[in-house]
Amino acid sequence: MKLGVVGLGYVGMVTALAFSTLGHDVVGVDIERSRVDALRAGRSPVYEPGAEEYLAKTRALFTTEYSDLKGCELVFITVGTPPLPDGSQNVEFLKSAVGSLRESGYRGAVVPRSTVLPGTTERVVAPYFEHVGYNPEFLAEGRAFRDFFRPDKVVLGYRDEGTLSLLREVYEKIDAPKLEMDVTTAELVKYANNAFLSLKVAYANEMGNISKNIGVDVYRVMEAVGLDRRIGREFLNSGIGFGGSCFPKDLSALIFFSRQSGYEPVLLKAVYEQNARQPYRLVDLLKSKYPLLKGLKVGVLGLAFKPDTDDVREAPSIKIVSALLKEGAEVHAYDPRAMGNFKKLSVEFSTLVRYHSDARECVESSDVVLLLTEWGEFRNPALYDGKPVFEGRRILGKDGVGW
Ligand code: UGA
Repeated sequence: MKLGVVGLGYVGMVTALAFSTLGHDVVGVDIERSRVDALRAGRSPVYEPGAEEYLAKTRALFTTEYSDLKGCELVFITVGTPPLPDGSQNVEFLKSAVGSLRESGYRGAVVPRSTVLPGTTERVVAPYFEHVGYNPEFLAEGRAFRDFFRPDKVVLGYRDEGTLSLLREVYEKIDAPKLEMDVTTAELVKYANNAFLSLKVAYANEMGNISKNIGVDVYRVMEAVGLDRRIGREFLNSGIGFGGSCFPKDLSALIFFSRQSGYEPVLLKAVYEQNARQPYRLVDLLKSKYPLLKGLKVGVLGLAFKPDTDDVREAPSIKIVSALLKEGAEVHAYDPRAMGNFKKLSVEFSTLVRYHSDARECVESSDVVLLLTEWGEFRNPALYDGKPVFEGRRILGKDGVGW
């Protein structure tokens, strides 16, 4: 099928490349010239394992022109929906994509894939197009292609039978349970999914904090708890909390939305609060051994919100490094991918933090080491050369926030 993808950020790029790999004729549109040029040149604007291999092979057309969507039967919209200060969501990019589609004369099916609050597709897209659907993505950064080709489920939200049959057709080759539902239900599925995963992480951290206080290793506890099939072991890895562009933002948006709908979401608020505090557990652990941080050389290994990405959005490292600097510590840092993005976050991060070109150099320059991201290369015990190590992510299983 000839299909379009509007918005070539991380989700859009993966969506376009994956559908093209499935044999569809894909047109990817983005208004940013430099992004389109990069994709055409085979360069991924974000670090995602596999992206450049798919780019090298793809037959997808990347363009800045909506008119190139001519002949498409279905267009996915994957533009950003950034948070507003009150926790709600800015849907201006979605509105403008819908406007540009209309202006270009496109009249086929329109299916947002961006995470949008329930009711958004009905309000922002449905008044302008006859054929409308909503198809949430469940692509975790660092494993996005695997998540696309081998998903646990595919959720097909639709308003009309025509759109539903197109959605069935584009996903024909994906072997997974396919759930068909109205667009508003499909929108809530995405939030409910992410909120539950956030809840699991916050729960594991709550147990981790209790475990640490009584000298128990929370990973032994979760190993047992996770064997209960009603619970499952995944997303029970305790540490310094969840970050990234999805969980924190989606949780805030759902809290906002819930209040607007007339329900005070006590549980979601607790998850948010638990996670907001969790990074400081590592600073407290360090201070329990080194009460005076002033002048202490602290090596921070890992800045990305998780391994296999260069993304630092909402990363726990932001709170931890800020707290260390505030207390007067001399912060040394190394991350295999995310140092460039981290420097851009603030003047302090670009001028006060001393960055290193490899992990060993960072360790050698430090009195103590904090582990903030579980990159594979940090798993080598020889790297630490007897230096005291405090773990925000379970890597060596020594002295950590919950073990
Ligand atoms: C998440 C979801 O996993 C995807 O399914 C979803 O599509 C995506 O958000 C989205 O909404 O677009 P992502 O944010 O890339 O994906 O990352 P995750 O792997 O889910 O990790 C989120 C955070 O939770 C990370 O900071 C990670 O370190 C933390 N985490 C995860 C833990 O602290 N413990 C765990 O056991 C699992």
